[in-house]
Amino acid sequence: MPGLIERYMDRLPFSVGDPIITLDEGSTPLVHAPRLSARVGAEVWLKLEGANPTGSFKDRGMTCAVSAAVRDGAQAVICASTGNTAAALAAYAARAGIRGVVIVPEGKIAMGKLAQALMHGAQVVAINGNFDRALELVRTVAARHPIALVNSVNDFRIEGQKTAAYEIAEALGELDALCIPVGNAGNITAYWRGFGELGVRPRMFGFQAAGAAPLVRGAPVAAPETIASAIRIGKPARWEQAMDAMTASHGGVHAVSDEQILAAYAFLAREEGVFCEPASAASVAGLIAHGAGGARRVACVLTGHGLKDPDTALAHVGGVIPCAPELAMIERVILG
Ligand code: F0G
Repeated sequence: MPGLIERYMDRLPFSVGDPIITLDEGSTPLVHAPRLSARVGAEVWLKLEGANPTGSFKDRGMTCAVSAAVRDGAQAVICASTGNTAAALAAYAARAGIRGVVIVPEGKIAMGKLAQALMHGAQVVAINGNFDRALELVRTVAARHPIALVNSVNDFRIEGQKTAAYEIAEALGELDALCIPVGNAGNITAYWRGFGELGVRPRMFGFQAAGAAPLVRGAPVAAPETIASAIRIGKPARWEQAMDAMTASHGGVHAVSDEQILAAYAFLAREEGVFCEPASAASVAGLIAHGAGGARRVACVLTGHGLKDPDTALAHVGGVIPCAPELAMIERVILG
């Protein structure tokens, strides 16, 4: 499949002849989840955004944001990130042949994401502060210098990410509810825009980690904390739009505990064969814990691949079984 700008050019702010920076992102699998469906009493589909080129949904927004920056003559792009935006920025900046700079909370981004950003040659700056502080800093840097800001405050990001809603609507036609993790609140904003353009109106259910749930509390969280590091955000930039999506669609926003997130993370891996990262599992944890308003057909967005965060995975499963390289020993171990 071609990248999403080419696929949906008539509905995106690009024209034939524009420079397009792409890794053929989008067109991700939408798989039925039979065991989850049985568990929650609904027909549940999983949108596997971890199948994007850098392993998260951020590629959809980044192809648009970086293409637009290149069209405008930018020589450098910058973002604040909990990891996935950094990895996507780094890859698309490398592809464009421009400079990439990312500011991340020190020690709080998953190992795979850090490896990606560094491998793609981005400058990775780690601050002793959280995502919200990093976002404040990059906004100021971008206002003072000719460096394009590609966080989801940049509308091209939303434009790119809305295409996931197109894909779900094209595949399913009717959809009663969408369950999605919410961090900086760009993605839920993008889905609502995408569905709206098609005249589809699923109930939008956003889920936040309990220790980082400003939208649920109705106030910013000064020191957000959760095992789901991707959504460790206390002051979402797209706060109003996210609330509007959930209110206008008669959905809602709820918190899920780290325990509920980890349980959903393990359930998806063991029962559905789908390995997502902890933040992504918040959508399914939310569906299990809070339901989706009695919806019959539900799509859960699994925003990033499980391989992004091997440390969290390995910390929550049993270890390997050591064995001598002998047939008898192997048989004893596997046959009991
Ligand atoms: N899931 C994952 C895996 C994410 O990386 C993010 C955000 C979200 C969900 C939430 O999406 O912010 O649009 O509400 N990650 C950003 C980053 C903040 O820097 O990678 P959102």
